[in-house]
Formats: sequence, structure tokens, C-alpha cells
Amino acid sequence: MDISTLCIHGAENNTHHTGAISVPIYQSATFAHPGVGQSTGYDYSRMQNPTREYVEKIVANLEHGIDALAFSSGMSAIAALMELFSIGDHIIASEDLYGGTIRLFENISRKNGLQFDYTDTSKLDTVRSLIRKETKAIYIESPTNPMMQVTDIAAACELARSRGLLVIVDNTFLTPYYQLPLVLGADIVIHSGTKYLSGHNDTLSGFLVTNREDLSEKLRFIYKTTGACLSPFDSWLLIRGIKTLAVRMDRQQENALKVAHWLTAQEKVKKIYYIGLPDHPDYAVSIKQSTGFGSMISFEVDKEVTAKQLLERIQLLLFAESLGGVETLITYPMLQTHADIPLEERLRRGINDCLLRISVGLENADDIISDLDQALNGRRSLHGV
Ligand SMILES: Cc1ncc(COP(=O)(O)O)c(C=O)c1O
Repeated sequence: MDISTLCIHGAENNTHHTGAISVPIYQSATFAHPGVGQSTGYDYSRMQNPTREYVEKIVANLEHGIDALAFSSGMSAIAALMELFSIGDHIIASEDLYGGTIRLFENISRKNGLQFDYTDTSKLDTVRSLIRKETKAIYIESPTNPMMQVTDIAAACELARSRGLLVIVDNTFLTPYYQLPLVLGADIVIHSGTKYLSGHNDTLSGFLVTNREDLSEKLRFIYKTTGACLSPFDSWLLIRGIKTLAVRMDRQQENALKVAHWLTAQEKVKKIYYIGLPDHPDYAVSIKQSTGFGSMISFEVDKEVTAKQLLERIQLLLFAESLGGVETLITYPMLQTHADIPLEERLRRGINDCLLRISVGLENADDIISDLDQALNGRRSLHGV
């Protein structure tokens, strides 16, 4: 079955006997037992809830996993994942991670005794040189946020396997529609479901997906014990959002390619980071391991004042954190998503005061471009936005 069909029909709907097309929202904290020592399979919603179970099955199937766990946010999923590790364990992570993930690792996980090294995980020789006896995992974001670096996931998995390490991949930007890390050899996939999976900028959620029974068992134990589960209503929003994942991803990517090409021709734009442009340094790896490029673009303008003016002048686009929804959002990573990273480190990675990041949405591409044009170049908008 094609993935676009799986997005709509990808899990068995146990409520089919009612004829309901939409999976019901089981807004129940607890479930009655038919008798002593008996269970309907549902006891308490922190452990199992039928609406959440349905979205978990869909996400597991889309990612080619055996289990998916739905969390109340992407960060709660990553925080729970860190509970797999013990004091002294060492993790090698992509250096250009989402700022919130670095904040978690540096302020909470380190306090709990974990150790981290950050590096460009696309450079496997460097990754190899950082492996030591305490190393337990390689944590990859690909493409990274916001500099769009791409790691060869299959090659990283081969290295990890030879050294007995787990590979964890944050697949938020490309989603299973364009990239399947578990098929490439990874052990665990992470999502901020807040982004493309839900797709409408209206709910937070997160997922951990695995294709290993042992990891599923450990993660389920952590899940029921720490409790950051996705609510029934938000699970339903995710189910609804995922139904249109395929069409949204394709159309957003089409728009992103147009926006990226337009940005390339702008005098005030000095650098563009979009993995769908053939001159992106990792283009060949993207073509090899993914079926699409997504719709996240970072770009650097000539001056700080140009970046700030653009943010003040946009009329249709929205100056907001987050990504992946139907609305086109522009972020200023320096002040928003990556504000907690020390200045020197941010600058070293290219996150300077001229860098902007766009999550290209589903509006008409010409409308997006004309708003950018008037905001960047002071030209009158073509479409009266
Ligand atoms: C790549 C990536 N991973 C994880 C997260 C965290 O997800 P959430 O905001 O749903 O907690 C984000 C949030 O922006 C993200 O961009």
C-alpha cells in the first residue's frame, strides 16, 4: 500500500462495528474491568487509550516500526528517551540540533549524569574518533535545525552497529513520507508531532518509534512510569492531521522549491540552506536516502537590519516559532529557537543575526513570494497582501 493510503487507512479501526469513519475520542481516564482478574485491554489512560493507540499504530506503520509511543510534546518524548541511559553513559549528538534538545541535554541530562559530545554527524571519521567505552548512542537530526546539514544515516548505522551503539534519529523535518530512518538501520525515531504530522499549528505532540522489541518494552515502562502521554483529543487531532500528510508534504515542498529559487536571485540574500538545491553540499546524500527535501529553508541576509525589517514588514507570513504547519512561519533562530545556546557557539555554527528560517506552508507560492518581496525589497505586493 502506498504511504499516502497508509496515512488514511494505516491502522485497524476497532470501532468499525459502529460505522464511524472518524475514530472516536475516548475521553476516559480509566476503564472498568468486567470481573476480578479481567481486563478489556484498557485499564488506565496513562497506559493505554484507544484513541491514542490508533494514532500510535498509524505512526508505527508509517515509520516501519513495531511500536510508536505518543507523547504530549516532542520534548517530553526526548526527555523520556533519555531515561534509557544511566549515569556515566555517553552520547554523540549532531551539533546543529534543535535548541530545546541541547537545552535538555546540557541542563537536565548532564545533571542526571549523562555525557555528550556534539559534532557534525555527517563527518563519520570525527564521530568514530569520539566513540569511547562509555558511548551508548549516536543521536542524529537530519536535516539539522536550522543549518540543514544532512547525515548519511545508513553509514552512521553501520558504524554504530560495529561498535554496539544505538542510533536515534529525529525525523521531524522530513517525516516518514520522505525518509525512513528505521529502514536505513536506526533503532529509534523521534518526532515532534507538533510539526508536519499534525500539520496545522494547533497541537503539541511527540513520538518515539522503534522496530526492536527490547526497546519497545523499556520505553513502554518509562512511558507509563513518567506519564507524559498524549491526551485523547490531541491524539484525534493527530489522526486527522496525518490523513493529509502526503498531500501537504508534496505541496509544501513544491512551494519551498519555488521560494528557494526566488531567494537565490535576491541581492540581499547571501546564503541559502535548502537541501533541495543541487548545490547543497549534502544533495547527493539526500537523493540517496530520502524521497523528498521537505519545506524548511534557512537563509542569511546581508545585514541584521535587513533581517529585522523583513520580520517587521511581513503581512501574510507569520513571525513565529515552530514549523511544518499549513501557515508559512518565519523564525529568527538567534532570538527564538536557539536563544539558549551560548553566543560564541551559535556564531560558530552560523546562527548569526542575519539568519532567518522559513517553514514554507500551503498558501499559494506566488503569494508567499510576493510577501517576501515586499518585506525584503520594499516592493509593492502583487496580490494585495
Ligand atoms: C527537530 C525538532 N525536534 C524536537 C522538537 C521539540 O518538539 P516540541 O516543540 O513538540 O516539544 C522540535 C521543536 O521545534 C524540533 O524542531
